[in-house]
Amino acid sequence: MTDLAARAAELRQLIEYHNRRYYELDEPEIPDADFDALVRELCQIEDAHPELATEDSPTRHVGGAPTQLFAEVRHRVPMMSLDNAFDQAELDAWAERLARLLPGVDLPDLALTCEPKVDGVAMSLTYVDGRFVRAATRGNGVTGEDVTANVATIADVPHRLAPSAGPYPHHLEVRGEVYMGAAAFHELNRRAAAEGTRTFANPRNSAAGSLRQKDPAVTATRPLSFWAYQIGEVDGAPPETAGGSAGGPAGEPAGGLAGWPPGRQSEALELLAKAGFPVSPDAVVVRGVAAVLARCREVEQRRHDLGYEVDGVVVKVDDLALHARLGATSRAPRWAVAFKFPPEERTTLLRDIEVSIGRTGRATPFAVLEPVLVAGSTVGLATLHNEDQVRAKDVRPGEQVIVRKAGDVIPEVVGPVRAKGRRPPPWTFPTTCPSCRGPLTRLPGESDTYCTNIDCPAQRVQRVVHFASRAAMDIEGLGDERVLQLIGEGLVTDPADLYTLDAGRLAALERMGVVSAGNLVGAIEFSKERPLSRLLVALGIRHVGPTVARALAGAFGSLEALRAAPVDALASVEGVGPVIADAAVAFFTNPANQVVLDRLVRLGLSTTEPGATGDAVRRTMAGKSVVVTGSVPGYTREEAELAIVVRGGKSPGTVSKKTFAVVVGESPGASKTSKAEALGVPTVPAERFDELLETGELPA
Ligand code: IVH
Repeated sequence: MTDLAARAAELRQLIEYHNRRYYELDEPEIPDADFDALVRELCQIEDAHPELATEDSPTRHVGGAPTQLFAEVRHRVPMMSLDNAFDQAELDAWAERLARLLPGVDLPDLALTCEPKVDGVAMSLTYVDGRFVRAATRGNGVTGEDVTANVATIADVPHRLAPSAGPYPHHLEVRGEVYMGAAAFHELNRRAAAEGTRTFANPRNSAAGSLRQKDPAVTATRPLSFWAYQIGEVDGAPPETAGGSAGGPAGEPAGGLAGWPPGRQSEALELLAKAGFPVSPDAVVVRGVAAVLARCREVEQRRHDLGYEVDGVVVKVDDLALHARLGATSRAPRWAVAFKFPPEERTTLLRDIEVSIGRTGRATPFAVLEPVLVAGSTVGLATLHNEDQVRAKDVRPGEQVIVRKAGDVIPEVVGPVRAKGRRPPPWTFPTTCPSCRGPLTRLPGESDTYCTNIDCPAQRVQRVVHFASRAAMDIEGLGDERVLQLIGEGLVTDPADLYTLDAGRLAALERMGVVSAGNLVGAIEFSKERPLSRLLVALGIRHVGPTVARALAGAFGSLEALRAAPVDALASVEGVGPVIADAAVAFFTNPANQVVLDRLVRLGLSTTEPGATGDAVRRTMAGKSVVVTGSVPGYTREEAELAIVVRGGKSPGTVSKKTFAVVVGESPGASKTSKAEALGVPTVPAERFDELLETGELPA
């Protein structure tokens, strides 16, 4: 018992501390989910042992104290918090309480609104005779801060209510959420990063920080939005006691739209929209708790497509007359519950930062984390991209960090948990490659660091792994470990070696056996038939992913044509620009790559693309033999010859009577020109070479 009392006291301390960081300083140290967990633990202790509950327990009030920056505002109708439900059982428990408190109400048919719980800052807006007079934050629920001047800059907040939706109560309080849309938030942060000013961890902090400005002109530059979701005070009382009609019998929708004050939450939303407030388009009315869960799951599925951050769904009893019957606890109304989605942010220990070497030699730092369950999957590793990112995030091994995994997005380390006390030293980028011990170099003006040793084993492993990967040659059974083993055994040094593997030799390897060896060799053999586009991906040419590879393979039709293609022919393919074209030419002209390519061809890999149009190479030179002599402006000798070959022609070194034409450049060879003359072979001046290539005809 004394342990429990001590824990309760500790939890109160912690909650007060984090409340302050969240509400007053806009600098939360821990993710919301961790905070919720603290509150839940304290609630559980206090529920089980009411004698341990204290009057001033944070479970009995919300938020933080005013900061003195702004004038205080008292909320005549308190701005309460919401109870949370994290799963179906907790939602059912909420419904059971409704059933107990509302005898005679047909619960399975009860109308409930489901509204996205947008993650921003709760705001109270006061209108007197339809005119905006004041905006106040929630503060501790009873006293908030006057942020009128700042909120007046938000375009979504009407300064006058639409006359057509009146007449309005003399004194009308509208509650809602000031938030920042996802796109606006990212753009704001991008600009802040570019200007070297403060960035925000998430849209909520960004909205809160923007509201807490002394100068409204600053707030005006921030892309803030507003959603109205509730009617607060109506002429001195909560709406449900302010004389609104409750519509039909409890749980039945009212017929027709009542005026102010409305009798139902759904009517309130409609009236607010008519009055000129933005109202979430994703708010719906459902019947019964079973339908609530389905709706929550639906919103959860779409949460990353909504364009704003949601952390759950707020479920409210639609009939406001029932709100009065249900009342509230000291902290939250009983007529509503917040169904919270699984957290996408958690804290965990950053054990270390290591560096991995990719197939191009790029050294990528990554976080080694104490594994933690985030958004349904366990995260143990997360990329940190490059040296600058590690510095910008200021994450240090040995510290707690916030890990975020939003939807399908790859897990990310957001930043350190900013705790008091001494921090461990900052991490420094290693100077040597963890694989080959060669130097790691970062070129001036670049953000990436590279191991430039082409023989680095890590690079070799990654090249082969990439070659065999799903989007490339799709060879099953060739993951990192297996490739490491094959390279370690000296059986493989480059991708071409895969096609020389012997099943008998493989079967003798550790963790292999006859069946696996047979399967692997079979899978490798099978991959020989993959189309050219996959081979291009597998080769790991810079900038050449599946889409570009298909465009190139489709346009040229064969590896042979591609290898011979000049830069401009490559660059003229739809979706391929000069950068990709340069990278491809650099790859195909590299002698080491040529050796591997020649071997792959000899080993019998398919080098064509089924269904290719091949229309990047108009075969204007088909069947023609064109000799080049002297230098052609814009071409090296080799390029001029290639231009002919790619178009289906031949470019031998000597003139014969079969020669179609001799292209005569600057300082031509005397023997070739005189032989052309003797044999009656037409000559073409160098400046008309392009025309010859283009048309396949002798220029007139
Ligand atoms: S109703 C007493 N509706 O969630 C109930 N709240 O802890 C008042 N929130 O601070 C809240 N969307 O800032 C309500 N559609 C919505 C909401 C919503 C977001 C926020 C609000 C409040 C917190 C609940």
